[in-house]
Amino acid sequence: MTSDSFFENIQPGRNFFYDIVLIDGLHLDEQVIRDVENSLKWLAPGGTIVLHDCNPLTQAAQDEEYRHNTLWNGTVWRAWAKLRASRTDLFMLTVDADHGVGVIQRGRQDVFGIGSNQVLDFDFLDRNRSELLHLVSPVEFFKGLDELPAARAAGRARRAIVNRVFHRILGLPRLLRLRHAPPPGEDGG
Ligand SMILES: C[S@@+](CC[C@H](N)C(=O)[O-])C[C@H]1O[C@@H](n2cnc3c(N)ncnc32)[C@H](O)[C@@H]1O
Repeated sequence: MTSDSFFENIQPGRNFFYDIVLIDGLHLDEQVIRDVENSLKWLAPGGTIVLHDCNPLTQAAQDEEYRHNTLWNGTVWRAWAKLRASRTDLFMLTVDADHGVGVIQRGRQDVFGIGSNQVLDFDFLDRNRSELLHLVSPVEFFKGLDELPAARAAGRARRAIVNRVFHRILGLPRLLRLRHAPPPGEDGG
């Protein structure tokens, strides 16, 4: 099932919202923006969207064209850039691990200004990577977990659950191990 049809057919009962949504589907920016916007509609107060593949390290990895059996992050980062440039109502950071693990919560951010004529190419990403992605090391991320906007918005019990999920899916040993891109030829994403 595609994410679009999932969201079209969602029929939750009352009080049905998600604490964590992982987006790691079609790695093309328009789809990713749609996935983020749809997820926000069903995100619990204090919820988090985790967006994989925000930090491609090579030009080829962020090609629009899917290439089988090679590392392919696609144009996820462009979706990120567009949201970073426009959504003052979101808080966004990227954990600098495993192809870039984006974390999106309701909150606020000083947007990253991008001129309307700016071409979103790899050179632009490379020049602005740290600030555009709001890159944070895994160690910093875990240190600041309880200070994130969602943690403050969530009750104690819910915060404990979400933090446990973070530790499970973004566990520090795993993040540190995956910090570096796998050798050429190995599947990515
Ligand atoms: C990079 S893989 C991620 C796999 C997943 N995170 C996991 O751990 O199993 C991307 C997956 O998204 C699926 N996919 C592609 N386009 C999609 C879409 N529009 N909606 C939902 N899933 C999609 C692909 O079939 C593929 O299984």
